[in-house]
Amino acid sequence: MTAEGAQLSGPDFTQGIEASRLAEGAMLLGYANGEAVLLARRGSDIFAVGAVCTHYNGPLAEGLLVDDTVRCPWHHACFSLRTGQALRAPALNPVACWKVEQANGKIFVREKAKRPAPEKRTPTASTPRAIVIVGGGAAGNAAAEMLRREGFGGPITMLSADDAAPYDRPNLSKDFLAGKAPEDWIPLRSVDFYKKKDIGVRLDARVAAIDPAGRAVGLADGSRVSFDALLLATGARVVRLDTPGADLPHVHYLRTLDDSTALIAAAERARRVVVIGASFIGLETAAALRKRGLEVHVAGPQARQLERVLGPELGDMIKAIHEQHGVVFHFNTSATAIDREAVTLKSGERIAADLVVAGIGVRPETALAEQAGLAVDNGVLVDAYLETSAPGIFAAGDIARWPDPHTGKRIRVEHWVVAERQGQTAARNMLGRREAFDAVPFFWSQHYDVQVNYVGHAEGWDRIETSGKPADRSCEVSYFEGGRKAAVATVGRDLDSLRAEVELERSRAGA
Ligand SMILES: Cc1cc2nc3c(=O)[nH]c(=O)nc-3n(C[C@H](O)[C@H](O)[C@H](O)COP(=O)(O)OP(=O)(O)OC[C@H]3O[C@@H](n4cnc5c(N)ncnc54)[C@H](O)[C@@H]3O)c2cc1C
Ligand code: FES
Repeated sequence: MTAEGAQLSGPDFTQGIEASRLAEGAMLLGYANGEAVLLARRGSDIFAVGAVCTHYNGPLAEGLLVDDTVRCPWHHACFSLRTGQALRAPALNPVACWKVEQANGKIFVREKAKRPAPEKRTPTASTPRAIVIVGGGAAGNAAAEMLRREGFGGPITMLSADDAAPYDRPNLSKDFLAGKAPEDWIPLRSVDFYKKKDIGVRLDARVAAIDPAGRAVGLADGSRVSFDALLLATGARVVRLDTPGADLPHVHYLRTLDDSTALIAAAERARRVVVIGASFIGLETAAALRKRGLEVHVAGPQARQLERVLGPELGDMIKAIHEQHGVVFHFNTSATAIDREAVTLKSGERIAADLVVAGIGVRPETALAEQAGLAVDNGVLVDAYLETSAPGIFAAGDIARWPDPHTGKRIRVEHWVVAERQGQTAARNMLGRREAFDAVPFFWSQHYDVQVNYVGHAEGWDRIETSGKPADRSCEVSYFEGGRKAAVATVGRDLDSLRAEVELERSRAGA
């Protein structure tokens, strides 16, 4: 086993392998000194890097080589083969970089290369002196880290309304809710990390107003924090039910760590749950609560769950998976009342429930931006560099609506990886790099042991092409909009998902 817990396999590279075993553009998994190592050849270059993704330990050898990078098959993180750097979220830490030696037609890997010290950049006249980040979620955290990685030496203050430091939000409806992930997996970083990086994290610090002209934010407690550059990364808030009885204490929502721990405490006392809303989060919650042994009913207004995003075939596949695990669906309906014993549906049917979870969507948290007079239209409008209508104020994550070069439209998505990547790009642009955000959106969703990966963005489609069979849990579904392939969903075909991502990256609207 390696330090990361993965099984070692393949050749021992310290003993050398015949160079001819590593073809051009190929990867080879092996090990050196007890650690899994990935060997890759790109033209005359041979690279050796750690083979285990630093996000969730994904197997990089089963990923995709793209130029001088390798992409992880599980959630599409991207690492440099030259430096090991995590070039794209969701991985935030680098993999090790190893020295490659060649002698007598053999390749040897025996020693790790020294990691270069982070570059110290001399500030220029346009470098901001102080940077404030509003929001301690995916985008805010990734931005703060990237500012330091890029050599920014000035003060960084992250103001978060949450009472917990940045955490792994997607896990809140998956393993953590199912009781399979201990609480110490959930923080993205330790308290020490922020101290070491000199990132000021202020929790329970709700920003009440932005003063763009005065270059300061005002907090709910009356204090002010000045900035030269500001990142708004306030995410989204859940839509609340207006059903009679929705304010009863056994009705829960799921957005924050506190929400998830409260739901876990309630689930430990409950027997039957009704999940209102057959959304991704509603269904992941259903799966997690089934793993806890609760009887689960899901009620939603649509004829099929997730059909609007994934189409009928994948929608049916996900339904079948949940039904195999004992979930009971109620479609084409809504809850008309909730009481302590049951949820009443439009039809008059009462479903007994001592726990109710509503997953009926979110709205971007744009109040601050609106108050500050920034351009807002179904999200904070940003340019290709993620800068808002106010110079020096950037926005990223669930709130940002950006000009997507692939669809040629302004889009806003609610995906973890997009939020992190936008945080990273915004950070570089706050330092004057002028880097357009052109990543193809990616998200994943987990239903028991089945993961759906989705790349691209299709708000609708005129044609769907499916290869493979959803029922066999191995398929690739392509969504075409106006004749153009706009998005691809895969099940059990991680490599195809990565290939589709590259294909979509290379396609631009009008090209
Ligand atoms: C349970 C759950 C599961 C999910 N699973 C997946 C998944 O599997 N795959 C996927 O791609 N996406 C998933 N998502 C979506 C993903 O988590 C979001 O897209 C992502 O977190 C957005 O990042 P963000 O930084 O924009 O906002 P957030 O992560 O929501 O962070 C917003 C931050 O802003 C703070 N804030 C808000 N207002 C203020 C204010 N006025 N002052 C100060 N701070 C403020 C909040 O406290 C919070 O810290 C999931 C979401 C949830 C809730
Ligand atoms: S495990 Fe590699 S990106 Fe998640």
